[in-house]
Amino acid sequence: MENKRSSFSNTLGFVLAAAGSAVGLGNLWRFPYLAAKYGGGIFILVYLILAVTLGFTLMITEIAIGRRTGLSAINAFQKLDKRFGIIGYLACAASFIITPYYCVIGGWVVKYLITFLTGNVGAAAEEEYYNRFITGSAEPILWFGVFVLFTAVVVMIGVEKGIERASCVLMPVLIVLTVAIALYCVTRPGAMEGVKYYLLPDFSRFSATTVLAAMGQLFYSMSLAMGTMITYGSYMKKEDNLEKSVRQIELFDTALAILAGFMIVPSVFVFSGGNEEALGKGPSLMFVTMPKVFENMKFGSIIGAVFFLLVLFAALTSSISLMETNVSIVCDKWGWSRKRTTALTTVYVLIMGAVISLGYGSLNFIRFLGMGLLDFFDFISNSILMPVIGILTCISIGFFIKPQVVYDEVEINGEFKVKGFYTVMLKWIAPVCLILIVLFAVAEAAGWIQV
Ligand code: PHE
Repeated sequence: MENKRSSFSNTLGFVLAAAGSAVGLGNLWRFPYLAAKYGGGIFILVYLILAVTLGFTLMITEIAIGRRTGLSAINAFQKLDKRFGIIGYLACAASFIITPYYCVIGGWVVKYLITFLTGNVGAAAEEEYYNRFITGSAEPILWFGVFVLFTAVVVMIGVEKGIERASCVLMPVLIVLTVAIALYCVTRPGAMEGVKYYLLPDFSRFSATTVLAAMGQLFYSMSLAMGTMITYGSYMKKEDNLEKSVRQIELFDTALAILAGFMIVPSVFVFSGGNEEALGKGPSLMFVTMPKVFENMKFGSIIGAVFFLLVLFAALTSSISLMETNVSIVCDKWGWSRKRTTALTTVYVLIMGAVISLGYGSLNFIRFLGMGLLDFFDFISNSILMPVIGILTCISIGFFIKPQVVYDEVEINGEFKVKGFYTVMLKWIAPVCLILIVLFAVAEAAGWIQV
């Protein structure tokens, strides 16, 4: 017997849940340092242009596919055209790869939140503290486990009562906290220099790499090409306006990424005396440099605790969407119950995540293409699978299944305002851009080019 599919109760519930998926570690940690690294304002400008063109095209396509079929990635593509079920399988692989390592980093956030809440700001500000923590065995796995359990409980409860309710509470709090901290940070003495550095375009740094970096970031940040938006779309009601909702989700995601930059870039800039290198530190920017900044800030321990709380909320709503993507695919494909699927997915995530976590400690001899486990999985999912899925989605919908399925879905509630533009993007511009991302990622991994 087929169960009636759950749905988000209204447009706001849908938009907050999808924005919750989109806004995550990608916005709060990755966007600010990429912006700083790739020429400040110029990166932001390129990113904005890509968001309203490429991001819009893929997001509207995925949500439309989900809502049209009422199914998650594998079954959705199979229903549209048997030959393209493979795209769903790839999306499924991508989300199963990302979920464990995303939750490992979520566990680090829990650890830092607790460190700040217990007043250990001084300790957290030491580089050694971070290194000792991530290379340990039991502790990172413990916090990772806590993070996974939170995620699993929400997913187990279900779409409306779990995911929608969690997003409706966490997202507004997240926005308020982000705005408050950003305001506090930009009004610190000397911060204006950092704001200028963050916002003023440095044209001399503009290059193809800027565009490609912005593109990669865009897909990750908007949870695209992973099956997530197809799943969430399948829970969207027919009476909700699709085009408008996509614009709102994009606005949310982009605004929060830019605001995150206001929290981080000026603070680090002031703290490091204008040393740009302090910003380009990858993961340790959030876990080493930021605690140092908080240590030197008035009310730093409180601000730090609030900062990690908001990072935790953002990471949770994203990990919930990742786990939901996995669960919905398995439930649709094999007809298992939500409870059973969530329980088994959780066991899988716990085992894989523990191995990935140990990849920094006792298992750090395991390396692929010179990368540790977490970096390797990140590379496979974000740099390879994601663009490949994006390309296949555009080509299959653009030329075989035909964009009419998307038009029909959007036009349920009125005119599709940018139909012509959408079609050109879907068929030509998006696939070309995505092919460039893959070539770039491969060339970089093979050491042919350096960024
Ligand atoms: N968009 C999330 C972030 O910015 C990550 C994510 C990717 C979530 C893909 C779901 C699917 O952190």
